[in-house]
Amino acid sequence: MLNHILSIVLLLTTILIPISFSASTNETTKSDIDLLEFALNLEYLEAEFFLYGATGNGLDVVAPGLAQGGPPPIGARMASLDPFTKDVISQFGLQEIGHLRVIKSVVKGFPRPLLNISKESFAKVMDDAFGNPLRPPFDAYANSINYLLASYIIPYVGLTGYVGASSNLQDPTFKKLVASLLGIEAGQDAVIRTLLYERRKLRVLPYRITVEEFTNRISMLRNKLGNNGIKDEGLEVPIMQGAEGKISGNILAGDEYSTSYSRTPVEILRIVYGGNESVPGGFYPKGADGNIAKSYLKTTT
Ligand SMILES: *[C@@H]1O[C@H](CO)[C@@H](O)[C@H](O)[C@H]1NC(C)=O
Ligand SMILES: *[C@@H]1O[C@H](CO)[C@@H](O)[C@H](O)[C@H]1NC(C)=O
Ligand SMILES: *[C@@H]1O[C@H](CO)[C@@H](O)[C@H](O)[C@H]1NC(C)=O
Repeated sequence: MLNHILSIVLLLTTILIPISFSASTNETTKSDIDLLEFALNLEYLEAEFFLYGATGNGLDVVAPGLAQGGPPPIGARMASLDPFTKDVISQFGLQEIGHLRVIKSVVKGFPRPLLNISKESFAKVMDDAFGNPLRPPFDAYANSINYLLASYIIPYVGLTGYVGASSNLQDPTFKKLVASLLGIEAGQDAVIRTLLYERRKLRVLPYRITVEEFTNRISMLRNKLGNNGIKDEGLEVPIMQGAEGKISGNILAGDEYSTSYSRTPVEILRIVYGGNESVPGGFYPKGADGNIAKSYLKTTT
């Protein structure tokens, strides 16, 4: 009898010890987890913006349960897209679902934070980018060009965040995952930039402003908000800032060696909140979730 109990206890310990080990993580893995959970905020934003834009439905319909009961996004809607753009954006939206799934397969995560992806939210970014209100207000959902310009705002922020996270990760499994996520984010950004680059000299109607000028202004705004130097570039740069200092066309944003820029979580929060990592707003009216984002909210409230 005693033997029996002992072997059961032994069996239980062998089963339970590995589980409790992976649950009670050390400092290194805790910071890895925090970094990956931080990324979840951006993946939720991308998933909802792309899914709604292409199909008129978001996570709650396309991948029920993945939002874990988080509030539905504000102002999300289907965009008026040509068939080609709609196809591309549908693929992006579904790719983001995969990203949410894989991140949640390695970290606990959290429900979808409240997102403001209304046309007013994007209009505000454009107004800030130009330093005065566009008339009529910019409508991200009105047509393919506008939607691509609004999309220009999104995966790039994730891309720079993944580059930034990579140097702070310890666990090889997490490093590989972040590199794999970065690959697709960078690909999405490149597709968006290419579609816009083809039309960079077109005027964005009804404004007297070209596609190129929109991207340059959005990138300058992000540099200003991030408040840590140049980490963002539009489709046209001064020649000195182009690849090898020899070309002004700038289909991909990169530093002097044409390697990707990197951003820290604080810089990203400033950009997606619209200015201050401690003051929720912009795309996240109640702030982003997870330890990293919440730590900035706590210090000042
Ligand atoms: C923490 O966990 C990581 C990844 O499992 C491991 O490489 C590292 O040695 C651990 N650090 C300590 C102090 O236990
Ligand atoms: C969404 O963003 C717009 C533009 O900033 C703002 O006017 C509106 O109040 C926001 N909605 C919520 C619920 O935060
Ligand atoms: C950010 O907001 C906090 C809280 O309102 C404030 O104390 C701080 O000065 C702000 N930072 C900047 C750079 O404006």
